[in-house]
Amino acid sequence: MIEIRFKVLIILVLVVSYCKAQTIIPIETKDFSMVLQTDNQNKLKTVYFGKKLNYELDFQQIEKQYYFPSANAGIYNSAYTPSGTWNLSEPALQVKHFDGNLSTDLIFVDVEVQKKDEETHTKIKLTDPVYNLIVILNYKVWANLNVVEQWTEIINKENDTIELSKYASANLYFTNKDFYLTHFQGEYLKEMQPTEERLTQGIKTLDSKLGTRAMLIGTPNFMISFDKPAEEDNGMVLLGQLAWTGNYKIDFDIDSYKNLRLIAGVNPYSSNYTLQKGETFKSPSLIYSISDNGTGKASRQLHTWARKYRVLNGEGERLTLLNNWEATYFDFNEDKLSKLITDTKDLGLDLFLLDDGWFGNKYPRNNDDAGLGDWQENRKKLPNGLGYLVKEAKKNKVKFGIWIEPEMVNPESELFKTHPDWVIKQPERPAKLYRNQMVLDLTNPDVQNFVFTVVDSIFTKNPEIAFVKWDCNAVIYNAYSNYLEQNKIPQTHLYIDYVQGLYKVLDKIRQKYPSVSMMLCSGGGGRADYELLKYFTEFWPSDNTDPIERIFLQWNYSYFFPSITTACHVTNWGKQPMKFKVDVASMGKLGFDIDVSHLNSDDLFFTKEAIKEYNEFKHLVLLGDQFRLASPYQNPYASLMYVDKNKSEAVMFNYLSSNRFMEKMTRQPIKMKGLDIDKKYKIKEINLFPNTKSTLDDSITYSGNFLMNVGVNPDINLKRTSVILLITEAK
Ligand code: DGJ
Repeated sequence: MIEIRFKVLIILVLVVSYCKAQTIIPIETKDFSMVLQTDNQNKLKTVYFGKKLNYELDFQQIEKQYYFPSANAGIYNSAYTPSGTWNLSEPALQVKHFDGNLSTDLIFVDVEVQKKDEETHTKIKLTDPVYNLIVILNYKVWANLNVVEQWTEIINKENDTIELSKYASANLYFTNKDFYLTHFQGEYLKEMQPTEERLTQGIKTLDSKLGTRAMLIGTPNFMISFDKPAEEDNGMVLLGQLAWTGNYKIDFDIDSYKNLRLIAGVNPYSSNYTLQKGETFKSPSLIYSISDNGTGKASRQLHTWARKYRVLNGEGERLTLLNNWEATYFDFNEDKLSKLITDTKDLGLDLFLLDDGWFGNKYPRNNDDAGLGDWQENRKKLPNGLGYLVKEAKKNKVKFGIWIEPEMVNPESELFKTHPDWVIKQPERPAKLYRNQMVLDLTNPDVQNFVFTVVDSIFTKNPEIAFVKWDCNAVIYNAYSNYLEQNKIPQTHLYIDYVQGLYKVLDKIRQKYPSVSMMLCSGGGGRADYELLKYFTEFWPSDNTDPIERIFLQWNYSYFFPSITTACHVTNWGKQPMKFKVDVASMGKLGFDIDVSHLNSDDLFFTKEAIKEYNEFKHLVLLGDQFRLASPYQNPYASLMYVDKNKSEAVMFNYLSSNRFMEKMTRQPIKMKGLDIDKKYKIKEINLFPNTKSTLDDSITYSGNFLMNVGVNPDINLKRTSVILLITEAK
């Protein structure tokens, strides 16, 4: 690919009526403009965020229509709000300068634009007029997708060390009120529960202080809807995520003009960060997709962006798998696993995944209270090592994958006894365990090396291992790093240096093993962010695999993540029939976590056929455009569909998600989306259970127009609780 790269120093120096030179910087996507403009003191402000302005001359007129300064708070619409000088509202930046001074101001220096393929990267340089502090605001735009990635670099060119106590990634300003915020809170087994609220004056904060598993209780994903509550196909919405694996803080500040100030970044909680002379702090990215056709379009834009530009192997192959976790827990041996490997093959799956419990000898991992950290095969359970199982898999023509949790340790382990100083723990206080384990101190390069070696030696000994499930089950309690202390680095670096240490390890792993599939897991959905997904092919949304709950969970994750990243397994959870479970899991990256020998013959037959069927339509689910059709929050049923790029093939999933009021059937058609109005289509029900027939007539030809304006009734009822329809163009 030829790389066209050029730099343009911005020329837009416009002369306003009173002859004061002002700079106007538009950040533009296909449908939206964000306009930044300097004032007569050269401070940079956001004067517009909304639908695309087509005439450059219009940019000059925007600011005159508003009055942004506030006698009480300074200026609300600063493009990156400093503190300690003229601003008294929530800042984006707080600095203790080299001489101890706490005041910062920022003025515009210059702007540079780089274009590379589909990306436009605008870098705006600001500086403090008194101190030699540089701030670079970065905006990377994928214009056609209306997706923006924003981050900040803070460069210390002062005479000595400075200390940052706030260092946001992005500081946005919106005047198109009202604002409705949807955020996603939860806990273990209840991840990603949405709440929508109208923002009123004051600050609403989303944050995490958990250190690791940062998404467990609340997530850095949010949705802002402008003027009215979010709708699927109408209205302006912004779907955003702070792509950071540690503590985050996102402030939604409605100012006294009822405008929205959004300040997002690393959580400054216990995290004052020192920058040596010459050092740069690079913040994580705020990533957002903007749409004026509701959340559906915003999600599709984000999905396409994620697959194309972000997720490891985002448009590549995904392996269906059988996981032994819920079939065996810690209780297995070679024979049991060999049987599961044959089951993997018999079911027609691609890979067998060996979960927790395969390691530890002096402290065998027979439960979750011992062995974590000792990554040698348990000789009793696996006398012939992993190599034997890899060979068994090969014999059966399936691939082999392995579970690890390399950032963590049980106190009952050789690792802990040898390196007690490698854990995060307050030295004077009793250890506080989470699932009987502690977090290793990834600020320490020796620990980083250890974690790398865990992965490296597994691959070196067994180069044919094709998949890793990387788990993370504890939060950081008693935050204290022995390594930072020994190296005279402030303890307030811990939360940040931990995450950066993790990224360093993953960088090293990916340099050596660029494409092995890896699943990101965090005891359920504690981790799924777009920084980690640079290294992972998929994530585990929740340990809750009850298919009814999964309909809701997967629905909520689908706002932000494409199906190709969402691992969905069939397990024993839930009372629904096998067909229902398989159909729900087929809306993502399909896997199984069951004891196959417990399936009756119909379930077994159905499952094998459904896996074959999944392999036929998975390109639609994994790579197609997703359309949410009927929300389980508003209906007793849920319906989604995926359409290929040519609009010639689609698959529609329909489920009875509640029968609280004895809802016996879908009483009306469900309108499809994303098809071609002028094309003709046939509809066929697939994944039928043995000895059942579809109640739909597959001989009918429908127009795309009909399917999108009238729809079809999938005939979901108490006997047909899940229905999958394949829609193909009739030629
Ligand atoms: C938590 C994960 O979410 C489970 O799938 C399983 O891997 C266990 N950890 C193993 O300890």
